Amino acid sequence: MSKPVILSGMQPTGDGKLHLGNLEGALKNLVSMQDDYQIYLCIVDWHALTADYDKTQGLKKRILEEAMDYLSSGLDPEKCAIFVQSLVKEHAELHLLLSMITPLEWLRRVPSYKEKKDELGLDSYGFLGYPLLQAADILIYKAEFVPVGKDQIPHIEVTREIARKFNLIYGNVFPEPQAKLSKYPTILGTDGRKMSKSYGNDITIADSQEITAQKVSKMYTDPKKIHKKDAGHPDKCPVFLLHKIYTPQMDTERVHTDCISGKWGCVECKKKLIENMNEALAPIRKKRRELEKNIDYVENVLYSGSDKARVRAQETMKEVRGAMGMMESKIHRDGR
Ligand code: TRP
Ligand code: SF4
Repeated sequence: MSKPVILSGMQPTGDGKLHLGNLEGALKNLVSMQDDYQIYLCIVDWHALTADYDKTQGLKKRILEEAMDYLSSGLDPEKCAIFVQSLVKEHAELHLLLSMITPLEWLRRVPSYKEKKDELGLDSYGFLGYPLLQAADILIYKAEFVPVGKDQIPHIEVTREIARKFNLIYGNVFPEPQAKLSKYPTILGTDGRKMSKSYGNDITIADSQEITAQKVSKMYTDPKKIHKKDAGHPDKCPVFLLHKIYTPQMDTERVHTDCISGKWGCVECKKKLIENMNEALAPIRKKRRELEKNIDYVENVLYSGSDKARVRAQETMKEVRGAMGMMESKIHRDGR
């Protein structure tokens, strides 16, 4: 039996480097699934142009950074297809065809459009169509599951709606994909808000031990715990959240009690965390340093991942064109 298909996508934004929230919330989840699912992992560079259309200079570098983070986290290019959206042009063809059956209203009511329109000062055609391109990313692989955070649920909903409409008009081609919410916790950044590149509060996979130490030392803590002997509230403290991930469970319990009882203070608490984090992240970072010296290998992973993805994308497009009664071009007939 063939394995169920998962499609996952991440934008190469900022400097392309992924942070611990991505690692703990998304990447480890994918790593744990790579034996039981066929995973297509798409670096969505076209999507990254939505806000950054005028910052294309470093785009290629950002794609490579993202790929290095995937590989160092343990994603195996033999098991999953790690690829670049713009190298599989079929996504664009499907996007165009789907645009014909998608009412503008479906896109206008997507929360991220409504919320970010004014925030980012964006009003482009591509920005409105963002969820539609995402739908094409997913449907072209006939993915059954899409691992996402809560904020992406509305995008999966539109994808399902579009799949349903397509199937109704042209016949059954697309399965309706399901969102698969990560069971891992949301990681807070150094300022206590959700860890996010756009807030500048992130600790990245690529950060050195020293940078990690500097960032953790400056981290926001429970404001009520000023002196060591003050009773803290670890459950509201982002430092404690990181302990829960990087500190062995028995010690984590002690961190919790000693914070509340006033037996230890934030400085010691952070020092311990820095040690544990750097130790836990060491193998991933070591692998990353090796990959950084071997960019040709990383590029090759992306090219062969894109070849693998393209095979499936072309199969689906053949079906789509057939269902819609389009003419088959000579290259399509010859199978390219
Ligand atoms: N919109 C997603 C995000 O910002 C990125 C994305 C693009 C995506 N295409 C996708 C996610 C397909 C999952 C599946 O995080
Ligand atoms: Fe947070 Fe640790 Fe300080 Fe408690 S002791 S408030 S858990 S940093």
